[in-house]
Amino acid sequence: MTIADVLLNIEEKIGYKFSMLDVEVILAFVLRKDKIFIFTHPENKPTYDQIKKFYALLRRRIKGEPVAYLIGHKKFYGLDFLVNKNVLIPRPETELLVEKTLEIIKNNPAKKYTLIDLGTGSGCIPIAILKNIQKYKNDLGLLIYAVDISNQALKVAKKNSKLHKVEKKIKFLKGDLLRPIIKNIKYIRPSPTTNNEELLITANLPYLPDKKITARPEEIGLKFEPKTALFAGKDGLKAYQQLFAQLKKIPNYKKTILCEIGFQQKNGLLKIIRRNFSTRQTKLSFYPDLAGHTRLAMIELS
Ligand SMILES: C[S@@+](CC[C@H](N)C(=O)[O-])C[C@H]1O[C@@H](n2cnc3c(N)ncnc32)[C@H](O)[C@@H]1O
Repeated sequence: MTIADVLLNIEEKIGYKFSMLDVEVILAFVLRKDKIFIFTHPENKPTYDQIKKFYALLRRRIKGEPVAYLIGHKKFYGLDFLVNKNVLIPRPETELLVEKTLEIIKNNPAKKYTLIDLGTGSGCIPIAILKNIQKYKNDLGLLIYAVDISNQALKVAKKNSKLHKVEKKIKFLKGDLLRPIIKNIKYIRPSPTTNNEELLITANLPYLPDKKITARPEEIGLKFEPKTALFAGKDGLKAYQQLFAQLKKIPNYKKTILCEIGFQQKNGLLKIIRRNFSTRQTKLSFYPDLAGHTRLAMIELS
């Protein structure tokens, strides 16, 4: 059987209608080739084992498993990341958070930042920042702290940091949000903030309200992702509530926090910030995604 035969009437063969793009990505993965190979070599004959594996993966896809988990990779900010069921699949909207963080670093060349990524998952945020920072900063002495509550997620993040050769620039810490940072703050940032020094915190924490996942096409993939990466209490803001309460425990440090939120959570987040910090202490900016929804908040605390 050739590649052309495998693809011919695939929907009828498998008895299910799905995206041809998924089919091509899965076939290319099984053949260990890129997608172009499929179009340029329709006469190529996959082995029996390859065809068997292809159909097995297609069956998992039909049940709703995201393609990224089937092939073990996902592109984010132009880079390839390893993913498995223990980490959230990096989302394109999170690229805005990376973009803004790089912009801050670029626009403040004299500042000395200590970067902290909370809920690092696959490590996509700190790795994308480090891989792009050379464009703005010659000083590569920058060290990033990356925290996650899940040991399994940290294993994936560490693998990704090696894959992208930045393992020496990221210190991975297991723990609950800022707790491991607060505990070690004397070593992380020995002197309290001067005008030149600042903690720059990125956080894409879970923000979905607790709920049962339905079989709707836009939701079914969530069933395969870790619950701790997705859900955060009734209003989805539990993790951010905890974060802003923790931030009060490091009062002597100037901090900028960039956090991704759900598109209806701006007011909820504002309430949390006001509960913990006065207007005098805070400067707030909100940014929309490509669809015009507010998805990113920048909070400057002095
Ligand atoms: C929405 S995922 C984001 C993963 C990654 N930063 C990204 O953008 O793809 C949230 C991550 O936060 C982690 N997490 C959840 N609660 C946490 C907590 N209390 N402390 C540290 N990490 C937490 C989860 O394990 C998960 O990896």
